[in-house]
Amino acid sequence: MNSNGLSFDDINLDPAKIPSHVAIIMDGNGRWAKKRLMNRIKGHEKGADTVRAIVRCCRKLGIKILTLYAFSTENWLRPKAEVTALMGLLKRFLDSEEKELLEKNIRLNTIGQTQRLPQNVRTVLTRVKASTQDNDGMLLNLALSYGGRSEIVEMVRKIGTRVADGELTPKDITEETIVDHLYTRDMADPDLLIRTSGEMRLSNFLLWQIAYSEFLVTDTLWPDFSETEFISIITQFQNRERRFGRVLET
Ligand code: IPE
Ligand code: IPE
Ligand code: MG
Repeated sequence: MNSNGLSFDDINLDPAKIPSHVAIIMDGNGRWAKKRLMNRIKGHEKGADTVRAIVRCCRKLGIKILTLYAFSTENWLRPKAEVTALMGLLKRFLDSEEKELLEKNIRLNTIGQTQRLPQNVRTVLTRVKASTQDNDGMLLNLALSYGGRSEIVEMVRKIGTRVADGELTPKDITEETIVDHLYTRDMADPDLLIRTSGEMRLSNFLLWQIAYSEFLVTDTLWPDFSETEFISIITQFQNRERRFGRVLET
């Protein structure tokens, strides 16, 4: 048993090979609703329940960082009613989860152009980030109004400004300089990237950070995604051979 009451024997996972950072493209809410002749918003509401379950499961497993793609820069182009509903849902989610994040020692962080979010969402984000800032059990990293390309543009602008100000010369720029100017600057790269609902694409997610992440796609729609399937994906991850371009001893 680990300190959270979860036995690794029961679930057949190797505690020594739990990924430190898992990133998830939570896709398929709209299709889940459509299949049931419901409004897409109902799919997003059901999807929020899956978020709760997966956050709990990651905490139990001892995963250190969970990054969830909740809203992309391109998602602003969806119908206004859907965007408004998603923002309302996000605010309700944060209001209702604050207590549990505190109890479970989880810190909230966001990546993305959060200045584009409505004021009432920004207010609750600021509050929950502040109240959870000293928690060190897990980092819940929400990608909100996030785009990998806009993250890269912002990074280049920041480094360009430092060069223009004479703080850096182009020759000083290394991979580390780039990492230090991304939204994810203090985080290890994702070990595992999961996408639900079968789409084999990145949709502008974490373009720099996933250079060596293991990628797993499931056909399950996000509202139907479960703790059991998540654990089975972690098992598959544990059976992958990560080579990082090298030749491993045979
Ligand atoms: C993912 O589900 C949630 C967001 C992108 C906000 P979708 O809304 O993309 O669901 P599908 O892809 O239309 O089924
Ligand atoms: C990716 O899903 C974004 C999120 C899960 C927030 P999308 O549904 O927006 O991606 P595409 O349009 O299928 O590429
Ligand atoms: Mg989608």
